[in-house]
Amino acid sequence: MKQAKRYTITAALPYANGPIHIGQLAGAYISPDIFTRYLRLKGKEVVFICGSDENGIAITLKALKEGKTPQEIVDYYHELNKKSFHDFGISFDIYHRTSSEIHHKTAAEFFKTLYDKGEFIVEESEQYYDEEYHQYLADRYISGCCPICNHDAAYGDQCEKCGSSLNSKDLINPVSTLSGKKPILKKTTHWYLPMQKFEPWLKEWILEEHKHDWKKNVYGQCKSWLEQGLQPRAMTRDLNWGVKVPLPGAEGKVLYVWLDAPIGYISATKAWAAEKGIDWKPWWQSDDTRLIHFIGKDNIVFHCIIFPIILKAHGDYILPDNVPANEFMNMEGDKISTSRNWAVWLHEYLEDFPDKQDVLRYVLTANMPETKDSEFTWKDFQSRNNNELVAVLGNFVNRTLVLTQKYCEGKIPVYLEEVADYKIETIQSEIKSYLSAIENHLNHFRFRAALNELMGLARFGNKFLADAEPWKIIKNNPEQAKQILYIALQICASLCLACEPFLPLTAKKMAEMMCINTKDFSWDDIGRIDLLKSKQQLPKPGLLFEKIEDGVVEQQITKLKSNQKLRKMEKENIQHKPLIDFNQFENLELLVGTIKTAEKVPKTDKLLQFTIDLGSESRTILSGIADQFDPEEMIGKQVCIVANLKPRKIKGIESEGMILMAENKDGKLSILSPSDMIEPGSVIS
Ligand code: 2FM
Ligand code: ZN
Repeated sequence: MKQAKRYTITAALPYANGPIHIGQLAGAYISPDIFTRYLRLKGKEVVFICGSDENGIAITLKALKEGKTPQEIVDYYHELNKKSFHDFGISFDIYHRTSSEIHHKTAAEFFKTLYDKGEFIVEESEQYYDEEYHQYLADRYISGCCPICNHDAAYGDQCEKCGSSLNSKDLINPVSTLSGKKPILKKTTHWYLPMQKFEPWLKEWILEEHKHDWKKNVYGQCKSWLEQGLQPRAMTRDLNWGVKVPLPGAEGKVLYVWLDAPIGYISATKAWAAEKGIDWKPWWQSDDTRLIHFIGKDNIVFHCIIFPIILKAHGDYILPDNVPANEFMNMEGDKISTSRNWAVWLHEYLEDFPDKQDVLRYVLTANMPETKDSEFTWKDFQSRNNNELVAVLGNFVNRTLVLTQKYCEGKIPVYLEEVADYKIETIQSEIKSYLSAIENHLNHFRFRAALNELMGLARFGNKFLADAEPWKIIKNNPEQAKQILYIALQICASLCLACEPFLPLTAKKMAEMMCINTKDFSWDDIGRIDLLKSKQQLPKPGLLFEKIEDGVVEQQITKLKSNQKLRKMEKENIQHKPLIDFNQFENLELLVGTIKTAEKVPKTDKLLQFTIDLGSESRTILSGIADQFDPEEMIGKQVCIVANLKPRKIKGIESEGMILMAENKDGKLSILSPSDMIEPGSVIS
């Protein structure tokens, strides 16, 4: 670990394509927040950077699914997520956006610098292309059968069933997720980063230099990547959303999102520094800055291998000093999944538990997936709240403050050394030893253990009060009882300061209850026995935490299960209609007809007018499908129609039936036709 003058702390930029869930909060946001708050209390110079990742396929896919523009998607989720982080006290100095002008400029310049230095190789290759959508297909836009496990809905880059990392060309029977059709292979040019060139340097830098200070899970993943050998990776994509490739002849191409996203940390720092009127460069280019990336395990390769290569290749930048990635948090026995709606979303949690942000922060820190995947359950949430926050921390603070009201008229007593039976130095050194344990754990990114020590301090306070029994002494020796409360109150004040990085809202409440201005103190003041001023009148105390009843958490479990069921039904499109009797079905007259004429109805967007031959008669039928079908191409086709619908006038034309269509979840239509030509008027039954 290097000695630092300043710290640049980053938290992974979440995609602005959905709300944030508790797994993300536990994985990549609470830990840097605790760390940054701690550094600030230590008086360090620190900037805490985050923002929305607004480029790439994740965004365009979501837009496509919702029938919105990518811009609409990112605008909505950027605001939602920014608010969620703020509500949970995640104290970013800036929450920036990769759709901002300064980011596009920074990322394009970065690319251009590497290009000018000859760091890329240009290669033409064949890639899948959707002829209907006139678009090259990024890996996530192709699905097909997994060559490893035969799962029939694997993506071009990965099979979510067996977890294999794939190449889109390996998929059996690939289809475009845009049109549902088989894509063709078409030539395209891209700029590749020859990562293998950096392999010897990475082996030295990570495997030797960071052997002991990087977390085992991070080091292990890097080692395995490096042992497998690095390959050239394309740094550009054929896509119309993102940072444009700043080279002539690169129209229709954007930077690979994993090239531009980490540069987003730099552009965010620039925006923050500009706002403050300071120079951004020392934060990224000065050797006495410690750069630390907080991320989840799925981002390790990008932050430990690809981004450092890019920084190194550029030449002007420092490298990350540490990347304390977490593993994943599961929930109620299953993986958290956005698509299956198996998640607790932050904005929804706050609707059900307003003002209980710190309870969640506490539970997620206590279960942080630091070394292996961990598990969130509502029962554990309840028991940690009731048995730890209420029974230990809340109880100690509340008891001390209530007794102060009772025995001292709510005033902080005066400390009289000659009266006190307690060796103040022993109490102080006890507090200091908890403090240095917390510090030691934080310096090594062991947040669970640090939280445990914090609770140890609260337990120590409780024990002190229970052993000293001021309620027994008060009658015969009131001065002595007041001395006990004086010490208990000072322990509460130390707890208040030490709580701040972990439970900021609770620390604020405690500070108000004890009339302490935390800004007057730093981390190193913790343990002082004069943090609170004697004779200070305190307000009537409230409760820091309240018990959570069984019914409340049972409701959450029910909600989780019913949300998941609803999503499953939506996904499978099985919003069934009520059952009907056979004779209701028999009442439908379904016939095969042949389209004789087809034309667009003037002054309408979607209406087509058909004449349909039913053998013994012909019918005029209107259908709103002009946006998906060309009238000329429909002539001669056989279709299935509902023939006994009551005639309806549309735009002054009487429609005498309905053509049957199948529609997928994206609104794409397909005409139902008999598999072989059959006489018009044939009955469907
Ligand atoms: O995995 C993700 O959610 C990415 N959006 C993280 C990007 S982190 C950084 F590189 F910006
Ligand atoms: Zn598979």
